[in-house]
Amino acid sequence: MVIQICMGSSCFSRGNNKTLKAIQHYLKEHHLEGEVVLKGNHCFGECSRGPILKINDTLHEQVNSANIVELLEKTFY
Ligand code: FES
Repeated sequence: MVIQICMGSSCFSRGNNKTLKAIQHYLKEHHLEGEVVLKGNHCFGECSRGPILKINDTLHEQVNSANIVELLEKTFY
């Protein structure tokens, strides 16, 4: 599984900086670090729908440090 988080300036400043930390924390807590490649990405060109996160080939919009946990739960369990 690949999680790509947008580190473009718009998404980053609107919350992906915190979301990244939340994902790292979640993966560590659930011992999933070995199963996931977590990558930072340049702007996806979807800033108006951001903050953006991609899990495998699926783009997720308006992610934040609160709803990311629900999204990860759905993804893994
Ligand atoms: S900065 Fe994230 S889509 Fe543009």
